Amino acid sequence: MSFVRYEQKEQYAVATIDREKALNALNSQVLEDLNTMLDGINFDEVRALIITGAGQKSFVAGADIGEMSGLSKAEGEAFGKRGNEIFRRIETLPIPVIAAVNGFALGGGCELSMCCDIRLAAENAKFAQPEVGLGITPGFGGTQRLVRLIGVGKAKEMLYTCAQIDAQEAYRIGLVNAVYPAEELMDAAEKMAKRIARNAPIAVRATKKAANDGLQTDMDAAVAIESSLFGSCFETEDQKNAMGAFLEKRRPDPFVN
Ligand code: CAA
Repeated sequence: MSFVRYEQKEQYAVATIDREKALNALNSQVLEDLNTMLDGINFDEVRALIITGAGQKSFVAGADIGEMSGLSKAEGEAFGKRGNEIFRRIETLPIPVIAAVNGFALGGGCELSMCCDIRLAAENAKFAQPEVGLGITPGFGGTQRLVRLIGVGKAKEMLYTCAQIDAQEAYRIGLVNAVYPAEELMDAAEKMAKRIARNAPIAVRATKKAANDGLQTDMDAAVAIESSLFGSCFETEDQKNAMGAFLEKRRPDPFVN
């Protein structure tokens, strides 16, 4: 039995972290199930992935405190490393990933949402990095992605105070892209996934790679990465199809993977 449900829809998929009785907290098994789910994605068919949590209350309430409580230094480091590996895999997945944050996104839950490309939140969503209140640092990328996403000052405030912020505040500081009534969240996420899936998939992948890889380097190297990926698109069917259609004032044929 897996703690991650995976459902492939037309051209996108929904992965649901399903450990509801522990508010979808991430123990080692949930992390491995997430990794196995990633192994199973058919990128020839799936052009966007939505990650959400089971139930009405929680996206992911963090890494599993029960499991972490007895860890040694080496075990703690290994647990953090494994979480970071899997979250980095999500961040660099060749398709866009949308986090549909349907409640608590605390610690590892906030970190999971941040390794996704886009965060959409339900009105009841709550974000925090409560780790220093538990005697640890964030362990699945929180110290790195929060500063990049919302800026150093606000991120350090969240990291040092453990303060919980609601969905509207998360929207105000740029942590989430949009906020929806809880019952509309999945529709909104699926609508966005479909919109992404309508576009040329190779170009979408190249765009994600350019944005991600460029963020890791200086501007000169970053625009060189973009130029190279931009150039590679001119070898694709999709570019010929789409630009030809524009010039002939018709709709393009369906894009290929
Ligand atoms: N780990 C393990 N179990 C958790 C959990 C977690 N992170 N979060 C919730 N649960 C479990 C609770 O222990 C409880 O289980 P039982 O019914 O068996 O007692 C169940 O989920 C329901 O939780 P509550 O009864 O506490 O529900 P609540 O509505 O009163 O409170 C909450 C909800 C505010 C989210 C509270 O559960 C909470 O504070 N959870 C911990 C949040 C947290 O600190 N997360 C960060 C973990 S550290 C981390 O993530 C490190 C990292 O960077 C990798």
